[in-house]
Amino acid sequence: MCNGNRGEDLAFERFSLLFIYKRDRISSVSLSIFIRLLLCLCFVTIIGCTWKPRRMAHSGVHKDRGELRIHENLDELGTDLAEYIAELSEASVKERGVFAIAISGGSLIGLMGKLCEAPYNKTVDWAKWYIFWADERVVAKTHADSNYKLAKDGLLSKVPVVPSHVNSINDSVSAEEAADDYEFHVRQLVKTRTINVSDISDCPKFDLILLGMGSDGHVASLFPNHPVLDEKDEWVTFITDSPKSPPERITFTLPVINSASNVVVVVTGESKAEAVHLAIDDAGADCLSLPARLVQPTKGKLAWFLDKLAASKLDGSQFSE
Ligand SMILES: *[C@@H]1O[C@H](CO)[C@@H](O)[C@H](O)[C@H]1NC(C)=O
Ligand SMILES: *[C@@H]1O[C@H](CO)[C@@H](O)[C@H](O)[C@H]1NC(C)=O
Ligand SMILES: *[C@@H]1O[C@H](CO)[C@@H](O)[C@H](O)[C@H]1NC(C)=O
Repeated sequence: MCNGNRGEDLAFERFSLLFIYKRDRISSVSLSIFIRLLLCLCFVTIIGCTWKPRRMAHSGVHKDRGELRIHENLDELGTDLAEYIAELSEASVKERGVFAIAISGGSLIGLMGKLCEAPYNKTVDWAKWYIFWADERVVAKTHADSNYKLAKDGLLSKVPVVPSHVNSINDSVSAEEAADDYEFHVRQLVKTRTINVSDISDCPKFDLILLGMGSDGHVASLFPNHPVLDEKDEWVTFITDSPKSPPERITFTLPVINSASNVVVVVTGESKAEAVHLAIDDAGADCLSLPARLVQPTKGKLAWFLDKLAASKLDGSQFSE
């Protein structure tokens, strides 16, 4: 931790030489050691002051891969996730008057279940929520594969959200048309600042984008090695060849995901441990194109909500508690 690299060594040498030129009595070696000790002490103090004990098993910040929140079990994860979302909602409503949240499908919705219970079903300002989908299957809204149906049944029907704030896709058109229509719709809401806008990319800046991750490392409907990973211009695009059924989907693109104020990736279970390792640890060049690894908010905050099993292959030495 305290070992300087060559550049630092050089800087120390120059600094020390200055003292020798001034015929100071302090020897350059002891001065350099003293400065290093001082720096270490400052570092330890800063870490000590910012560290807050939490209920979860582990937490930490992993260099540029965001905050890691690792939980003993799904119950703990669900409690922490509900609290985290409720806090973001409160902050956003205070600042902007609304909370623009994009969700996806899979086990995520079930893990958000505690939001429907006390105290959140009362304390969250549900009327200020605007709900979007980071990805959606191009199927009827009544179809078992519909992410809208999943969220409606598991969450939205149990809390007092405003029906007109629920921004679902047009399920009676083709995937391409549905993507265009959804992007147009998002643009309208960016114009009125229901969704804020990024000051660097003019992309929409969602207050929160919630994602799951597949064991292949896909997020939203951005699958490994798929050309849509390179999409830079569109906000919402479509695929007709999803490796997982159903084949037709629409999805936010990486620029939109990475423009969000907050991105939360929720991953549980042992079958995803390897992908979590590749998405977070420094695991060589192979992992660099993994969709989950391409989730790198430009200015926003990234947080990983993991259970113990999903975190079981993480290289522990890579992150600081
Ligand atoms: C909130 O959820 C609790 C269960 O945790 C339930 O008893 C209560 O009726 C709910 N309140 C509202 C306003 O929905
Ligand atoms: C979906 O698109 C079709 C064809 O453009 C249109 O007729 C219909 O009104 C749209 N449905 C909704 C809910 O916007
Ligand atoms: C909207 O985003 C911009 C940066 O893109 C930020 O400066 C501004 O504070 C945000 N507006 C609100 C009301 O949060």
